[in-house]
Amino acid sequence: MSENQVIIFDTTLRDGEQSPGASMTREEKLRIARALEKMRVDVIEAGFAMASPGDFESVKNIAGHIKDSTICSLARALDADIERAAEALKPANSARIHTFIATSPIHMQYKLRMTPEQVIDQAVHAVKHARNYVDDVEFSCEDAGRSELDFLCRIIEAAISAGAKTINIPDTVGYAIPHQFSETILQLLNRIPNADKAVFSVHCHNDLGLAVANSLAAIASGARQVECTINGLGERAGNASLEEIVMAIKTRYDLLNVDTKVDTTQIVPTSRLVSSITGFSVQPNKAIVGANAFAHEAGIHQDGVLKHRETYEIMRAEDVGWNANKMVLGKHSGRNAFRARLVELGIEFESDAELAVAFGKFKELADKKHEIYDEDLQALVSDTLHSE
Ligand code: KIV
Ligand code: ZN
Repeated sequence: MSENQVIIFDTTLRDGEQSPGASMTREEKLRIARALEKMRVDVIEAGFAMASPGDFESVKNIAGHIKDSTICSLARALDADIERAAEALKPANSARIHTFIATSPIHMQYKLRMTPEQVIDQAVHAVKHARNYVDDVEFSCEDAGRSELDFLCRIIEAAISAGAKTINIPDTVGYAIPHQFSETILQLLNRIPNADKAVFSVHCHNDLGLAVANSLAAIASGARQVECTINGLGERAGNASLEEIVMAIKTRYDLLNVDTKVDTTQIVPTSRLVSSITGFSVQPNKAIVGANAFAHEAGIHQDGVLKHRETYEIMRAEDVGWNANKMVLGKHSGRNAFRARLVELGIEFESDAELAVAFGKFKELADKKHEIYDEDLQALVSDTLHSE
């Protein structure tokens, strides 16, 4: 793998499903996994095999059907979890066990009730145990965003020596700020002596709305795997959104100098599939996949886009799976967009004066209605022609 490639690790089926109300059936999960495979996502976290018999069956089912992406199961740093994950992953072409333990003072003291030394021992044991089943072991320092840097360096060095191939730095509670998170990744990569033996990954939550920004900042510092979900689904305010990360990487290659393998034309179909299965609708102004992401209503913008698309568009709608961009006719629209839509509908006025009358009627109607549809235009035009 080239050092400029970012591995896309999708956790829609695991962390995404932890979104209250987003649980999915085994069949629904397989449909989403197929869409992710078609999109050429590198790693699909199919579930948490130990969480329930249903989750175990889902991981196993996906491992049996998906052949082009690596299939991963989450496991706490406990033998029983790791063994259950290994069992569910048996049918996979390429399997990964993702084991984790919390590393922040607050989690170690109150949740785990363990000393830092005990946490390191358990992490090392878990990684070694997972390596008995698969070569591809990922280790996560849960709540790394609030963990002490020196402790992170110690536990990560030990986990890599024990055989972890991927080290994930989760900002579990979405506490990080981009420049600080970027510095954390840089420090880890510089200070851990065996850092070059593993791929560094990030997993950012969106509690402050910074999950994507933090992930990109980490990539700029050398992280080469990003964990994310379709539509940013996930615990609380969600995870970093796959579509935003992938399109930021593609659109700002000039700055980031990295790439992904993702077929971006599959983004919108997959977003719709996840939204229809979970019942979580996508807000209209959501970047990339929202209904308005490529829609223009303001006259100045419409005029600009009609003259040269890139005046107001930094991506092509078709590149993310929309049919085309969209000119929405409303009260902010101008005469050029109005005329262009009429031409698309096969309507042409004989004189500019007729067009001006119709445009005046359009503006009156637009003051009363949010959006003017093609049927409204047709009625308005025939009204103009017949009133002469
Ligand atoms: O947010 C988190 O810390 C997680 C880990 C289990 C990776 O989801
Ligand atoms: Zn998470």
